[in-house]
Amino acid sequence: MSKVSETTRESWIMSTFPEWGTWLNEEIEREEVKPGTVAMWWLGCTGIWLKTPGGGNLTIDLWCGNGKRTHGDGKMAVGHQMANMCGARNMQPNLRAVPFVIDPFAIRQVDAVLATHYHQDHMSAEYAAHVIQSGMTTTDEYGKEVPVPFIGPLKSVETWIKWGVPKEQCRIVRPGDTIKIKDMEIVVLDSFDRTCLVTTDSTGPDREELTGGCPVDMDDKAVNFLIKTPGGNIYHSGDSHYSIYFAKHGKDHKVDVAFGSYGENPVGMADKMTSCDILRMAEALRCDVVIPIHYDVWTNFMADVNEIRVLYDMKKDRLDYQFHPFFWEVGGKYVYPVDREKKAYHHPRGFEDCFEAPQNIPFRSCL
Ligand SMILES: [Fe+2]
Repeated sequence: MSKVSETTRESWIMSTFPEWGTWLNEEIEREEVKPGTVAMWWLGCTGIWLKTPGGGNLTIDLWCGNGKRTHGDGKMAVGHQMANMCGARNMQPNLRAVPFVIDPFAIRQVDAVLATHYHQDHMSAEYAAHVIQSGMTTTDEYGKEVPVPFIGPLKSVETWIKWGVPKEQCRIVRPGDTIKIKDMEIVVLDSFDRTCLVTTDSTGPDREELTGGCPVDMDDKAVNFLIKTPGGNIYHSGDSHYSIYFAKHGKDHKVDVAFGSYGENPVGMADKMTSCDILRMAEALRCDVVIPIHYDVWTNFMADVNEIRVLYDMKKDRLDYQFHPFFWEVGGKYVYPVDREKKAYHHPRGFEDCFEAPQNIPFRSCL
């Protein structure tokens, strides 16, 4: 058989996807987290992996899907939250713009699966299937071996149960709840994701009518998380829009690192925080480092982080900012507080051992 005769579309997909294979899975497994620190990896969109010195591993919003892959009929699903929000009917061209950096089926150990809300880019049926099928367990706060918990607001738990996650393995949380996982404590806080409020249970012609009705309880639909770790307190705002109540969270809790969903909103949309909102959130939370996320993933919401940097430089002295932004890359690692002085990330560049082994070149003048 020749290369050409045995190569198929399926063989191409299996040999190239996921793009990073198990590279990041291996990196996370091998990472030894030093005492007094917390290691984090950006999985794309708002997906974050946290690992602690006590061997705790948890994921927030790990998602393994994509966006549009065909033009179809060119229309949005009737009742889609974006259609509800702005009255557009044409399909939004939201194609996935980043590679898959983690293989959910190659994950060997996680101690909790967290979701901030139930929108499709924040939960993964593939990951849930793997955690359930592999019978993955962790230890609870009493040292008892238990199935890995799935933790999220009511609507996220309903989604997991619909997918087949056992009900008893799910934990519905609301603002004010706390859960201990190994050397971490999850503190559940209010979400400010107004897009979630205009999301109906179903799409299609029978979708519920929201016009004139009172908004439903945000706490059933979305939450923010503060993860207290030996390396600092990590605030994950899910897809929250800007809210003045960030200031209350900042007064109630010490926040070291804050993640905010940033994006360039198309005209007619107010779904993501702008550069100004990201700075206002960081100031209100009184955090040490603010890290924009989510702007990476959708082609129609991509944004330039330099806009945050320019605004930050304009405002930091006059407003006496006590925080600074950090600009990350999907698949990258950030260890707090070790990396706290860093302003931007670059993937490892390699070749550190150059000229340590013999070269194989005709002449040194080639160099
Ligand atoms: Fe999202």
